[in-house]
Amino acid sequence: MKKTILTGLRPTGNLHLGHLFGAGENWKRLQDDYEFFLEIADVQALTDNFNDPEKVRKNVYEITMDLLSIGVDPEKVHFFIQSQIPEIAELTVFYSNLVTVSRLERNPTVKAEIAQKKELFGTNGESITYGFLGYPVSQAADITAFNGEVVPVGDDQLPLLEQCREIVRKFNSIYGEILKEPEQILSNTSRVKGLDGNEKMGKSLGNAIFLVDSEETITEKIMNAVTDPQKIKKDDPANPDVCMVYYYHNLVNKKNLNTVCSECKNGSRGCVFCKRELIAAMNEFLNPIREKRKYYEEHPDTVKQILKDGTAFAQKRATEQMEKVREAMKINYDID
Ligand code: TRP
Repeated sequence: MKKTILTGLRPTGNLHLGHLFGAGENWKRLQDDYEFFLEIADVQALTDNFNDPEKVRKNVYEITMDLLSIGVDPEKVHFFIQSQIPEIAELTVFYSNLVTVSRLERNPTVKAEIAQKKELFGTNGESITYGFLGYPVSQAADITAFNGEVVPVGDDQLPLLEQCREIVRKFNSIYGEILKEPEQILSNTSRVKGLDGNEKMGKSLGNAIFLVDSEETITEKIMNAVTDPQKIKKDDPANPDVCMVYYYHNLVNKKNLNTVCSECKNGSRGCVFCKRELIAAMNEFLNPIREKRKYYEEHPDTVKQILKDGTAFAQKRATEQMEKVREAMKINYDID
């Protein structure tokens, strides 16, 4: 029997190269060997976008199309929408008894996010909502509603997984051994850096290359990417290790990497030339993804059917799991 993978992502914006190299490539490797549930976490996205439901709804479809276009295979992976599985919300309520408020306040991932979202949650987190503070509880429900055994995530998600395991242990110690403690698989590609040289590429950081970016947008972004500040004239020798253009050559233009590197170092390659070469390589890299995406954009019913089938499959698993949970918690009344 294949082990079960459960992973998720928040539908708040299109996928960028960071998602592709950090998560997508990993998921594509795993999809053959596991029973794979991929949750489009719209309920979690609402915890910090409750005032913009249209954005979340739109991005459920956008993200699904992005994932399909990078080769996450709907024949192997069950794509489902979190809000459509009520058992997840139900489990969240029961799990909320098993975690203290102070434990949630100490969760490093939650803490870091609250600090980033001052506009929503106040300068010192004084306006934090019950829902956002509690999203790790809901994420524990995401995983355990499907008996998720393995969760592929980036290291920023580890505190959430640890919190999930604590809830599982607490649940099992009170109500009986029903739930499985999930293990992580860390994404094995390190984070992709941003166009500005920031350690992390991120939508909110404004330094991302999106899979849906047009050729014009790619040109503009790469033309403005950060290069070695010591290089003033076209034929000055430079240090590729501090150049974002070289960094992306390393992602999408591996075959020419040695040439790029040595010409940069010996001053025989100007930055504009080097950027033009990267733009061409980036477009070549993105073209097959764009083509697949175009197909799905032109066939919205196919996308909906994938979500419908995946959600129905996930629903079955959650229904079975919830029956066990209700019985263990003695809330299975035979009154109907
Ligand atoms: N918190 C994850 C993120 O922000 C998304 C997510 C929701 C998730 N449910 C999950 C990840 C369950 C792993 C398992 O990217």
